[in-house]
Formats: sequence, C-alpha cells, structure tokens
Amino acid sequence: MKSYTLTNGLEIPAIGFGTWQIPDGQEAYDSVSYALEVGYTHVDTAQIYGNEVSVGKAIADSKLDRSAIFLTTKIWNDKADYDSAAASIDESMKKLGVDYLDLLLIHWPNPAGIRDNIGYEARNAAVWSAMEDAYEAGKVKAIGVSNFMPHHLEALLETAEIKPMVNQIMLAPGCTQDELVALCQEHDILLEAYSPLGTGTIFGNPVVEAMAERYGKTVAQVALAWSLHKGFLPLPKSVTPANIKANLDIFDFELSDEDIKVLDVLEGLKTQTNPDHTNF
Ligand SMILES: NC(=O)c1ccc[n+]([C@@H]2O[C@H](COP(=O)([O-])OP(=O)(O)OC[C@H]3O[C@@H](n4cnc5c(N)ncnc54)[C@H](OP(=O)(O)O)[C@@H]3O)[C@@H](O)[C@H]2O)c1
Repeated sequence: MKSYTLTNGLEIPAIGFGTWQIPDGQEAYDSVSYALEVGYTHVDTAQIYGNEVSVGKAIADSKLDRSAIFLTTKIWNDKADYDSAAASIDESMKKLGVDYLDLLLIHWPNPAGIRDNIGYEARNAAVWSAMEDAYEAGKVKAIGVSNFMPHHLEALLETAEIKPMVNQIMLAPGCTQDELVALCQEHDILLEAYSPLGTGTIFGNPVVEAMAERYGKTVAQVALAWSLHKGFLPLPKSVTPANIKANLDIFDFELSDEDIKVLDVLEGLKTQTNPDHTNF
C-alpha cells in the first residue's frame, strides 16, 4: 500500500475506508471486516457516526496486528472545552477497544452551539489543547482538523503549539477548494479527501463514464485516481463488497493532465458544506 508521510514522520496509508452512514452493528462490522480482509489498512470513523464500537470490534477480530492498522476518529461538536474534549478521547478509545489512536481530528470548526457565545477561535483552541496533551501522552499518534476553511486554520495556527498535520475536507471532481488546498500545502498539512465520490453523486455522470471506459476502469476508480494525482488521500465509503474491493484497485494507472483538468471543473456533484452556516 502506497503511503503519505505526515510532518511528524508518521506513515499514513494512501487510501482510507470511510464509515459515515454505516450503522453500528452488523453492517459496520461486516463492511470494516471485509475492507480489512481485502487490503485496506486505514479506517476513518468519528464520534458522531455512532459506529466506533463495531468498527473497533471488526479491527480486533481481524487477522491484522493493531500496528498494521491506521485508525482515525473525530471529536464532535458538543465538545467545546478542554475537559469534555479530553474525556471524549478516552471514551472513543474505550468504544474502539484500542489503547491509542493513529489520528484524531476536530470534526467541525464552527458548531452552531458555540457560534454566538464562545466563538470558534476559543472553542477550537481549547479542544486543540486537549488533543495536544493526548498527543504528548502517546494516546494519539497524529492530530489534525476537518472542514477547516482558511480563517479557521489561521486562527488555530495562532495558538497551537503543534501544527495540525491533516485537514480532512470535501475534495472530489468539481470540488477542488484551491485556495484552502494551497494554504494547507504551504503548512505541510496533508489533505484527506472526504466524499471522494461526491457521496455517490458522481455516478451516472456521462463525462466520467466515457473517461472510465477509455481507461478500462470504473467511474469510482477514475475519481479516486484523480484524488491521488492531486496528492490527496481519498476516503471512499461502501457497504457493497464488490465496490469495497474495486475501490482499492487504483494504483496501476495514471490519468492524463488533460483528463485531470476536465475533472477539476466537473459540474453536478455535491460540494463542501459551508461550516459557518450549518444548524449543527
Ligand atoms: N469529516 C467530515 O465531515 C466528513 C464528511 C463526509 C464524509 N467523510 C468521510 O469520507 C467518507 C466517504 O464520504 P461519503 O460517505 O460522503 O461518500 P463517498 O465515498 O463519496 O460515496 C459513497 C457512495 O458511493 C457508493 N459507492 C462507493 N463505491 C462505489 C463503487 N465502486 N461503485 C458504485 N458506487 C459506489 C456507495 O454506495 P455503496 O455503499 O452501496 O457501495 C455510497 O452511496 C465517509 O464515509 C467519511 O469517512 C467525512
């Protein structure tokens, strides 16, 4: 498995298995078990996905050593101060059944509940401080953020002792977030591409279908190869065994620069939600 290297030297497998909207219980257990069986070594979950218990059980029951798996979870919006963030890290590890996390992210930069009172700058600084302490204590091997736009990132960088190593944002054909990507790259922050298939909205697109046919690949494989070509780390989600397996088969071809440009401006897919304007 190809990998990227984070600023602290940690290797991170170049594709991760996404688990948003996979319900806790048999479905999460079976999907993650199958993903690990066919070669994924990187799993992305979050406190709010509600499936940490089943994800952890699938990891524990797999034939892989804990050290062979890269596991990410994310701190949810209801954690707005140091103590609640710190307690939630321990709770996530307990649910996942692990004694360390590979990567821990702040899930959302500007939750609705803190917008008109403490504000995102103070909330993120407090949560980040708990994450830095967990990092220093060896509970997490890397720390980062998700859905952070330039102003959230710049505010965090003012107080952070450790710079975020990752920003997980929506990146897919037609959703390139150029300004944010450039800022992250300037700070050596790895970009993880969530919803790399546009949460399914890429399927049926005639431009990508024709391109996939030319390469002898599927629409999903073309979208994931686009991510890798850009230096992003895609996190495709699937509960369908054939799709789970096929989404890994992306390391044996390269898209041409011309096709990359066509995908950059593709229309009709879901795009990044504005994190300052949500009701959660
Ligand atoms: N940090 C955040 O705020 C955030 C937000 C969104 C997502 N994420 C992360 O990114 C991951 C992926 O994003 P996503 O869940 O939005 O969706 P996605 O991976 O872009 O797309 C998933 C959809 O595509 C379908 N699919 C997957 N592979 C396919 C294939 N080879 N052929 C045909 N259909 C295929 C899936 O259906 P089947 O399941 O039936 O295959 C599902 O409907 C999430 O699971 C999560 O880990 C993070």
